[in-house]
Amino acid sequence: MMKRLEGKVSVITGGGGGIGRATALRFSKEGAAVVVADLDDASGEETVRLIHEKKGNALFVKTNVRESESIQSLVHTTVEHFGGLDILINNAGIGQSEVRSIDLEENEWDAVLDTNLKSIFLGMKYAVPELMKKDGVIVNVSSLLGLKGRKFVSAYNAAKGGVILLTQNAALEYGKDNIRVNAVAPGVIDTNIINGWKKDERKWSAISQSNALRRIGNPEEVASAILFLASDEASFITGATLSVDGGGLIF
Ligand SMILES: NC(=O)c1ccc[n+]([C@@H]2O[C@H](COP(=O)([O-])OP(=O)(O)OC[C@H]3O[C@@H](n4cnc5c(N)ncnc54)[C@H](O)[C@@H]3O)[C@@H](O)[C@H]2O)c1
Repeated sequence: MMKRLEGKVSVITGGGGGIGRATALRFSKEGAAVVVADLDDASGEETVRLIHEKKGNALFVKTNVRESESIQSLVHTTVEHFGGLDILINNAGIGQSEVRSIDLEENEWDAVLDTNLKSIFLGMKYAVPELMKKDGVIVNVSSLLGLKGRKFVSAYNAAKGGVILLTQNAALEYGKDNIRVNAVAPGVIDTNIINGWKKDERKWSAISQSNALRRIGNPEEVASAILFLASDEASFITGATLSVDGGGLIF
């Protein structure tokens, strides 16, 4: 069978984490070279090791998506190493303390907005000039909480909502350059980011019942949606947000 990303060069931010790693492994399986960009050396290197184990092509580039220089150097290293860039997956993100907005520390607001929203502006700002040479593709990872308000996650709600409109904005600005820009909006997915909730059995069981399919999703299910949007099968799809939430939005 034809591999769906044969010969493509991809960058996956947060590629050491749950959704990022699943996407990196899936992309590699489909023939892409993968640059794993993560702040955490151990998990980023582990993703690369898992890809090399399967004879795939991958490189770890330590990256802080909050910092302009770090993103610029990520794009530069990718182009130097692989000769260009076809696919950018803006996936790195963090959760927040569950408190009312009036109790949220300003520095936490800044950290969540920078990591979850400014990072996407920076990723696009520095990658788009390379993507323009390639009919490139961008997939931004938003959230169900970018489409729906919830108590006690003000910064996360604001950042992830912003990701969706920034996606639409970029789709409009770069459509004429043949760059497609889409978002995915995952519901509750079993990764480190929701580990805190696991400790509370009642909350965990309530969360797992909070969608039509009555279960928590796994990172591979989000990776499949990201792969679809990044592949030529989605050639006429841009500016879209694809929910991967087991029916969480409609619940
Ligand atoms: N798990 C869920 O339920 C869920 C739901 C909706 C959206 N999301 C989103 O999916 C994305 C991936 O999250 P995940 O669930 O795989 O979590 P995760 O914690 O497993 O992975 C996040 C990765 O991002 C990295 N990272 C954090 N800050 C960074 C920075 N400043 N620079 C570079 N890398 C950084 C972490 O080291 C980690 O490897 C996030 O944007 C998250 O908001 C997750």
